[in-house]
Amino acid sequence: MEENQLVPAQKSDLKEIFELEQLCFDAEAFTRRQLRYLLSQAKGYFLLRRQESRISAFMILLKKKNSSGMRLYSIAVNPRFRGQGLGRIMLAEALKRAAADGFKYLTLEVSEENKPAVTLYLQQGFEVFGERRAYYKNGSTALLMRKAVGKSPEPLPNGL
Ligand SMILES: CC(C)(COP(=O)(O)OP(=O)(O)OC[C@H]1O[C@@H](n2cnc3c(N)ncnc32)[C@H](O)[C@@H]1OP(=O)(O)O)[C@@H](O)C(=O)NCCC(=O)NCCS
Repeated sequence: MEENQLVPAQKSDLKEIFELEQLCFDAEAFTRRQLRYLLSQAKGYFLLRRQESRISAFMILLKKKNSSGMRLYSIAVNPRFRGQGLGRIMLAEALKRAAADGFKYLTLEVSEENKPAVTLYLQQGFEVFGERRAYYKNGSTALLMRKAVGKSPEPLPNGL
């Protein structure tokens, strides 16, 4: 597998993904069973990146029929590789895939207390369009965020 590329996760990656999931999400972590389902049956993309022979980051995108938004269901960067732009790189890839698959938005939910993630999403042009009070196990509020998927700008007249 090539290093530094986002590639589809394989079933054989499950153990390592589960370990990273627990490291990144504590009480909110998906179970191994949920991750297995997401890896094998969910409609969308489960992508990961390897650096120095371990998973440096992964991301799960879900496609729902009749929805205008592709959902960023999970995004996680190994603590060892944070602050190097991987979160930003994965968001750009998510937006690219949402556009290619014909979605109008990329949507997500995030705890309002998750400062790194909320800052990343705001920096990348996401807007808050709703909230769910006491949504997480620690009682925190979920912010519903979305970003309109970029279309290429219309070409200027006269080929300019
Ligand atoms: C949120 C997360 C994915 C960010 O990944 P990352 O690769 O470290 O982020 P990047 O290096 O791409 O940072 C991009 C921007 O995000 C914001 N950001 C990242 N970490 C931050 C922090 N600790 N505090 C404040 N802002 C932060 C900044 O705006 C940063 O831009 P800058 O470098 O110009 O300041 C990572 O912290 C993570 O995996 N957290 C645990 C899992 C999680 O909470 N996922 C989100 C669930 S909704």
